[in-house]
Amino acid sequence: MWKISLQILLTLSTLSFTIAQLENQTTKPFFTPQNTLFGDSIEGTSVDELGNIFATNFLNETFAIGQIFPEQKTFFLSNNDSSSFNGIRFLKLTKDEKITIKSIFLAADKKRSEVTKVTLFQNNNIEQTTFCKDDSFIEPNDLAISYNSGRIYISGQNFTNTTQKGDGGLWLCEPDGQAKQLLSLGRTNGIELSPDEKVLYLSEAFNRDFIPISNKIWKFSVDVNNGQISNQELFIDFAQLDSSQFADIDGMRCDVEGNLWVTRNGDGKVLKFSADKKLLLELNTEQIIKTANLEFGGKNGSTLFIVGKCKDDNSKGCVDVFENSKPGRAFSVLTRT
Ligand SMILES: *[C@@H]1O[C@H](CO)[C@@H](O)[C@H](O)[C@H]1NC(C)=O
Ligand SMILES: *[C@@H]1O[C@H](CO)[C@@H](O)[C@H](O)[C@H]1NC(C)=O
Ligand SMILES: *[C@@H]1O[C@H](CO)[C@@H](O)[C@H](O)[C@H]1NC(C)=O
Ligand SMILES: *[C@@H]1O[C@H](CO)[C@@H](O)[C@H](O)[C@H]1NC(C)=O
Ligand SMILES: *[C@@H]1O[C@H](CO)[C@@H](O)[C@H](O)[C@H]1NC(C)=O
Ligand SMILES: *[C@@H]1O[C@H](CO)[C@@H](O)[C@H](O)[C@H]1NC(C)=O
Repeated sequence: MWKISLQILLTLSTLSFTIAQLENQTTKPFFTPQNTLFGDSIEGTSVDELGNIFATNFLNETFAIGQIFPEQKTFFLSNNDSSSFNGIRFLKLTKDEKITIKSIFLAADKKRSEVTKVTLFQNNNIEQTTFCKDDSFIEPNDLAISYNSGRIYISGQNFTNTTQKGDGGLWLCEPDGQAKQLLSLGRTNGIELSPDEKVLYLSEAFNRDFIPISNKIWKFSVDVNNGQISNQELFIDFAQLDSSQFADIDGMRCDVEGNLWVTRNGDGKVLKFSADKKLLLELNTEQIIKTANLEFGGKNGSTLFIVGKCKDDNSKGCVDVFENSKPGRAFSVLTRT
């Protein structure tokens, strides 16, 4: 009897210890105000098939993309210096394409209101073209890519005093660059597909007096044949979860297990949700005041790189890391042969 209750007690205490540890962890500094070359608008964390990590606002330029991992350096400069890059995504190349091409990435250009396609060739030539553009676009913000179909889903937002439906939305670009608006919404920002590409996650926020008063994540069913979405369902409403509706949702990424990792640009946190809407982990960033975006990369694809404005110097962009046990969705697809 006593043995049994002791065992239960031990099990219970181990369990609560595990949960407490899981729920609240701290990230580690990677680029600090002392060594970062990124500006305060650092955004668009992305990964290529080698696990290299990139972000925007290198050397304080909105038209410059820099490399974060394995070493800090210039990666790409737009041929138009009015470009203001935000979300970035690398495409998966076929074996044949790899003979002549090093990498292809798409970048949302907020100012020029398009999605730009950049091809880096093995012979060091660079080609920059418009991948898709439509009059209905509103400051394209972030991109989600269906690797199976080549379709791109786009969020966008006009940050106004009082958000109206139509200040943001959801757009779809077909692989041939044909663009169309799927939904008219409040401000949309974080966007991601589940590993099986059958679920689309999209954030939506509303302002009053320029202050967010609502922040939600929606989920939709995706028809993998024609890319259409349906069954809009509430995934998380931060007013209900923890009254943090004032903290904007920014970049979102899935890991291979289908958990959704969400940056909160407003409280410096990253949250991990299971596909069935459970909050599994709260990450407090060590040195970022406004967490803007995130992506898994590094050697094994399981290091989470989180970017945003530095806590100790708001004029610079910092990077924190967190070691996860599983790789990200993008890394796992890009490295799969
Ligand atoms: C996690 O830790 C931070 C910093 O110690 C604290 O502010 C926050 O309230 C904690 N959150 C939870 C859910 O325990
Ligand atoms: C970017 O601008 C900030 C503010 O002016 C400055 O402190 C920082 O050194 C600049 N970074 C680079 C790499 O030039
Ligand atoms: C740069 O982009 C802007 C906005 O799209 C356009 O008006 C301008 O002509 C472009 N400049 C060049 C040199 O292509
Ligand atoms: C953004 O909102 C402002 C204020 O309502 C409006 O003047 C502007 O045209 C909007 N921009 C876009 C791209 O919709
Ligand atoms: C936002 O709009 C409201 C209503 O038009 C106005 O009263 C308020 O002053 C505006 N807020 C700011 C910060 O401009
Ligand atoms: C990557 O995987 C190897 C082999 O499993 C392991 O030894 C190493 O610690 C991992 N590195 C990171 C950064 O997780």
